[in-house]
Amino acid sequence: MNLLPVGIIGTGKYVPGRVLTNADLEKMVETNDEWIVSRTGIRERRITTAAQASSDLALRAAEEALGHAGIAAEDLDLIIVASITPDMAFPSTACILQDKLGAKKAAAFDLSAACSGFIYALANASNFIAAGIYKYALVVGAECLSKITDYTDRNTCILFGDGAGAAVLGQVPEGRGFRSFELGADGSGGPLLNLAAGGSRCPSSRESVEQKKHYIYMEGREVFKFAVRIMGSAAEEALRKAGLEKSDIDLLVPHQANIRIIESALNRLDLPAEKCVINIDKYGNVSAASIPMALAEAVEEGRVREGDCIVMVGFGGGLTWGASVLIW
Ligand code: ACO
Repeated sequence: MNLLPVGIIGTGKYVPGRVLTNADLEKMVETNDEWIVSRTGIRERRITTAAQASSDLALRAAEEALGHAGIAAEDLDLIIVASITPDMAFPSTACILQDKLGAKKAAAFDLSAACSGFIYALANASNFIAAGIYKYALVVGAECLSKITDYTDRNTCILFGDGAGAAVLGQVPEGRGFRSFELGADGSGGPLLNLAAGGSRCPSSRESVEQKKHYIYMEGREVFKFAVRIMGSAAEEALRKAGLEKSDIDLLVPHQANIRIIESALNRLDLPAEKCVINIDKYGNVSAASIPMALAEAVEEGRVREGDCIVMVGFGGGLTWGASVLIW
């Protein structure tokens, strides 16, 4: 079967207006700005109101991406939302978004791969288009991590924020588009990073709430070690599959979890910071929304030119990882 060249033809991002600074967190837990900035690179994050859910953020990012792509919601054949904070267990946030957009002919489903979810979703959506099954797909990473963050736990509450990023996928000229995907998982690392309650293993109950099992649990040091190892190796493997070298990279778009993790990836890939999108200082870790938000911001700022070699790479709960090489 001849595969069609598929790429990103529109990007968008949305963040809620409310800013939670390190100074705000100093009033909530035993921490300080110097510790947070030096250990994570984060200065502030955006937080939703009580009334906002992930689909609300997804809608705004999706509308912007559709506008940039120059297509209508009715043209979409597929919507995939990657999120660990869906509006509810079901229906999927993708279905809720499909209704809000009026994307009547689109199939819609959610994808769960934590912070690697956007890359996993791109791989899925692009295959449908490459095979000629669908023409246009919308891929969104949308998160309200503030809703699952324990603001009495200084180990985690300094890290997370809310936001959404979106990409419209369609056919592109020969020689451009996605060149490779490298996806992986190590389920044995699941206990390092999870939200234990609310599923079939531990249904929601008074006890589960009292035991704070509806909040993110994380073994930070272990996740850090995994992340440092996997960011470089996943990016290198995606480059190898694409038949390209580290020196071919024009722009690295990494998951924004910790500035030290990003710096170690830059070292391993022999890249200067100018070739990397870094916005963790403004938004913190936004899980599946982090890579599409960073990409949309780079496009907005004119940092992406036709023919550029873009490498996106992320890791997250699962444990999972994903990387992709894209010729813009
Ligand atoms: N303020 C001040 N001190 C703190 C804070 C804080 N907010 N948090 C922890 N500390 C203390 C600890 O208690 C510890 O004190 P101790 O030595 O007396 O025990 C000390 O600082 C060092 O703690 P570490 O955990 O070793 O700090 P580290 O340098 O590893 O940084 C961090 C912690 C930022 C969490 C880091 O490990 C990290 O970024 N890990 C990866 C996180 C990540 O990427 N998660 C992905 C989640 S995405 C998803 O899928 C939802």
